[in-house]
Amino acid sequence: MKLSRRMDKLKPYLFVEINQKIAEKKAKGEDIISFAIGDPDIPTPPHIIDRLCRAAHDPANHRYPETAGLPELCQAIAGWYQRRFDVSLDPETEVLPLIGSKEGIGHIAFCFIDPGDTTLVPDPAYPVYSISTMLAGGIPYYMALKEENDFLPNLKIIRDYILKQAKLLWINYPNNPTGAVAELDFFQSVVELAREHDIVVCHDGPYSEVAFDGYQPVSLMQADGAKEVGVEFHSLSKSYNMTGWRIGMVVGNAKMVDALRRLKSNLDSGIPQAIQYAAIEALTGPQDCILEHNAIYQRRRDLVVEVLTNIGLEVRLPKASLYVWAKVPEGYNSVDLTADLLDQVGVAVTPGVGYGRSGEGYVRLSLTIPDAALVKGLSRLSGWRNTRRLTVKR
Ligand SMILES: Cc1ncc(COP(=O)(O)O)c(C=O)c1O
Repeated sequence: MKLSRRMDKLKPYLFVEINQKIAEKKAKGEDIISFAIGDPDIPTPPHIIDRLCRAAHDPANHRYPETAGLPELCQAIAGWYQRRFDVSLDPETEVLPLIGSKEGIGHIAFCFIDPGDTTLVPDPAYPVYSISTMLAGGIPYYMALKEENDFLPNLKIIRDYILKQAKLLWINYPNNPTGAVAELDFFQSVVELAREHDIVVCHDGPYSEVAFDGYQPVSLMQADGAKEVGVEFHSLSKSYNMTGWRIGMVVGNAKMVDALRRLKSNLDSGIPQAIQYAAIEALTGPQDCILEHNAIYQRRRDLVVEVLTNIGLEVRLPKASLYVWAKVPEGYNSVDLTADLLDQVGVAVTPGVGYGRSGEGYVRLSLTIPDAALVKGLSRLSGWRNTRRLTVKR
């Protein structure tokens, strides 16, 4: 059997490999505490589940859904954007629900990228931006996210000939994996660049509701002219602990939304309607759960940052996202440190290099770990010894 050449480029997804390694250790009887995956441990709020259960009992929701999503859901998404960001969206033309945002992020490349086209992709980044580009035959051009630039891409250093070839640009704030945030002036400069070079912008913002110390992340859609050049992907996964239900959305430029809708109508058959009703409840119902979850994550963030600092890892306090991005100490690279933490103290983290070359020198810890495991994991981390520093000193 011969697989397509396309498949040659496709390695197992980063987290599949990490999960496999953890599972192998566990199978050998080792007790591993994992800070590796960003999957909320807190359950979906009960009012959302109640709505889901009611809708699941209604036979009207047992049939094929429409790709475009329920009009009530599109309205709920538009209403949420209006309340949250003061952004007006036409629910019919500028909103499209997705089967989780990963699905739309993966598919949009096929709407804009022809073989040989360039996509500007942050590095480090959520892997799907570059994988989908490559599957569509495109070529990712990596924009390094550096600490000295607050993990924002330096748009000014991208050469003109690259900008000429570029069809699509990805950005993601609050950022996975670095935990960095972007302000409106950055989004505005992205819109200007896109206008000047006729590039479509895809902003991925699933962490906009996971923020700390009263900080409120902004939306690309708040930038002047954003709707002319781009869309924003969003998700209910992290805001409402709904990763398992698979529901997200894309909003913004009507032509881009329409292209994705057309592509999807040929590939999938929409989102189970009971889940769409749960999403309507999430977006239009009480929002206190978001503050409650953020208080939990903030407490965990502080504990994680304190312990990492104590064991000699440099960390910036993230204002948002579910992640702590920690610098690996001298003498290690991100894979060495990950392996050492796993072997020495049975703690799993994600090596930064898994998110791209510029992620080297960092590891990512997720805050989506239940409190009891967190305490145990942190106590183990406190016992970790930097053996390479000792070797260097001798
Ligand atoms: C940056 C980023 N974008 C998109 C997603 C996908 O979220 P979902 O498909 O659950 O909506 C994730 C999930 O971890 C993510 O980290």
